[in-house]
Amino acid sequence: MKPPRKLHIKSYGCQMNVYDAQRMVDTLAGEGFVETANVEDADLVILNTCHIREKASEKVYSELGRLRVVKDEAARRGRLMNVAVAGCVAQAEGQEIIRRAPAVDIVVGPQSYHHLPELLARAKSDGRALETEFPVRDKFEFLPPPRPEAIRARGISSFVTVQEGCDKFCTFCVVPYTRGAEVSRPAVKVVDDVQRLADHGVREITLIGQNVNAYHGEGPDGTAWSLGTLLRRLAEIPGIARLRYSTSHPRDVDTTLIEAHRDLATLMPFVHLPVQSGSDRILSAMNRKHTADDYRRAIDRFRAARQDIAFSSDFIVGFPGESEEDFRATLALVTQIGYAGAYSFKYSPRPGTPAADIREIVSAAEMDERLVRLQELIDSQQSAFNKAMIGKTVDVLFERAARNPGQIVGRTAYLQPAHVLASADIIGQVLPVRIDSLERYSLLGELASLAQSATSQKPASPITVSSAPRMGA
Ligand code: 5AD
Ligand code: SF4
Repeated sequence: MKPPRKLHIKSYGCQMNVYDAQRMVDTLAGEGFVETANVEDADLVILNTCHIREKASEKVYSELGRLRVVKDEAARRGRLMNVAVAGCVAQAEGQEIIRRAPAVDIVVGPQSYHHLPELLARAKSDGRALETEFPVRDKFEFLPPPRPEAIRARGISSFVTVQEGCDKFCTFCVVPYTRGAEVSRPAVKVVDDVQRLADHGVREITLIGQNVNAYHGEGPDGTAWSLGTLLRRLAEIPGIARLRYSTSHPRDVDTTLIEAHRDLATLMPFVHLPVQSGSDRILSAMNRKHTADDYRRAIDRFRAARQDIAFSSDFIVGFPGESEEDFRATLALVTQIGYAGAYSFKYSPRPGTPAADIREIVSAAEMDERLVRLQELIDSQQSAFNKAMIGKTVDVLFERAARNPGQIVGRTAYLQPAHVLASADIIGQVLPVRIDSLERYSLLGELASLAQSATSQKPASPITVSSAPRMGA
């Protein structure tokens, strides 16, 4: 038997890239590849790239520079290392990568991962291979399902792509160009995937898509199912303790989704609903297709359905033409909504997007200053939200052993990391935890069953703080 070939894959950007990386690993497992954490050992290195902001795509070229050295060194030792660039930079700048980065053998766009085995063969025979077509057939029909060992190794929480691409064309955003038109997977395929994951121990599913609540996949009855309908079906699958979805667009919040939050205990009361700006003038220039009031109304509908619901959002500061008054409207919206957390970014012009041609640019100094003001406000809301957990007993889904010996870490409904001292048996269980304190972004507590006992120990401060990657909408 041939020894296994080694694959090193590095993902940047959003949740969908994390998921895509796993599917590439699954595909290449069929070709005898096993994953390695060590780039020097790899026979194939894949950079799974992000093009959303300029900084994200610049990283690719500097990483490719470093990889060239590693590849040359491997060649000196008589070993061939292939380098592939996947993801959204591959889609947007395929030819440019081939021209600028001689170390690259393969360029593969996000819709073509299932062709990786052929592309590898082509690179071997022709030297280099590029594929960035948007194929008519859905790549998911060709990607092999993850193997049971891979599912178990990836832990108790899993992403499942239900929808990909976007038809919204926000004027700042590359997603409609890099991921293509909006496509929803048939509901039966999603149900099968989730069932399979549940069968192998997965307890939490996050449905992902650039515009996930635009989901309109074909249902088993032949009608188009909404995200709310899909969630209702998935909630019936035994073993699935928690359902989430990301990333949503305010325009696509429909009654079925609101009712799913009202009715499904397993659907977590934490919604990432990007608004980008609080100014109607800027929202219109962004082609968001909603006003600040539309957004407020969407939030109110969620809150009416489930009172413990919390929100996060994305914001862009310094969009071309943004005045101090526009920016204050954003601050006012944040103050009014009250977020559990949010991501904010300086506007970054992306080649080929309509906003990149707008001339009224906001100066770098103004952008910096606005970003600081917005982030201070968001941080204060996040701290208040986290502090409010102290003294409460909340459900935690335990995920893994923490770095601190004896501690197990899980997440609350709001994705806050929570640490307790306990045995590893609790991994995979949802248990009530009495929260005692907050250390940066992590909660520390005791299993509620132990909290009554005066002798129970308190965990030491956690070392790690993690944050969930997101995408789109
Ligand atoms: N500049 C800055 N931020 C951007 N985002 C998307 N495109 C840009 C851009 N050109 C942000 C949006 C989106 C998140 C994933 O990234 O806030 O919701
Ligand atoms: Fe689509 Fe979201 Fe990008 Fe707008 S920001 S084009 S909704 S992915």
